[in-house]
Amino acid sequence: MVERNHPLPLYYQLMQELRSRIEQGEWKPGDLFPSERELCQAYGVSRMTVRQALAELVNEGLLRRDQGRGTFVAKPKIRKRLSRLTSFTEEMRSRGKQAGARVLRLEMVPARPRIADFLEIDAERPIALIERLRLADGEPIGIECSYLSFKGCEAVLREDLTRSLYEILSKRFGVIPTRAQEEIEVGTCNPREAQILGIQPGDPVMLIRRRTLDQNGRPFEFVESVYRGDNYILSVELMAEEPSAHS
Ligand code: GLP
Repeated sequence: MVERNHPLPLYYQLMQELRSRIEQGEWKPGDLFPSERELCQAYGVSRMTVRQALAELVNEGLLRRDQGRGTFVAKPKIRKRLSRLTSFTEEMRSRGKQAGARVLRLEMVPARPRIADFLEIDAERPIALIERLRLADGEPIGIECSYLSFKGCEAVLREDLTRSLYEILSKRFGVIPTRAQEEIEVGTCNPREAQILGIQPGDPVMLIRRRTLDQNGRPFEFVESVYRGDNYILSVELMAEEPSAHS
């Protein structure tokens, strides 16, 4: 169902609907997907909305375009292997662990020039700072310091941030984490980080910086995180390019 009076954009609702139909196995891998025209008719939306929804599903690896032949349902294994943007909560859930958070700092701050650049805003603009200790089954895993910038972001500071930030942003603010760029560096922790994480100063840590974009391609989050080097594993799936259907 796609509703016009819904806070989520039409294309996004359509994408969610089609994704769940694919995941429920309505089509088999390799099946021809309904055409743009058929989808427009079925859902009563414009061609542009359909195109945008399909483009996202192609991006996620659920659908595959074959020039001149149409859009097909991709093989599910490939879809799972493609790197998906996840929250800490989702990541822990997928490993069978319970995610948690302890709030360390919560305030509006002026954006420093480097952070303003990442968020594509003017320096000194007020942004929301949320620093949290992240826990997995109660064990400290890392410290995440998020800088948020979107209209009304100060209201996030009044939410219960021991819960999933991404869930709060999607459900209550209509800001949907859709894409991210991440940089990972190995480093050592300083005395404050060591104390919070329950390790020794100078112990190895993973430093992860993420810039996250919303459903409209606007950067709304810049995060600097420090994860313990001894209990955090980054796993990445690598894929050879899919052979083209013509070769
Ligand atoms: C990951 C990301 C952070 C993001 C967090 C949200 O850990 N590296 O950039 O802020 O997820 O997680 P949650 O929704 O569980 O609060």
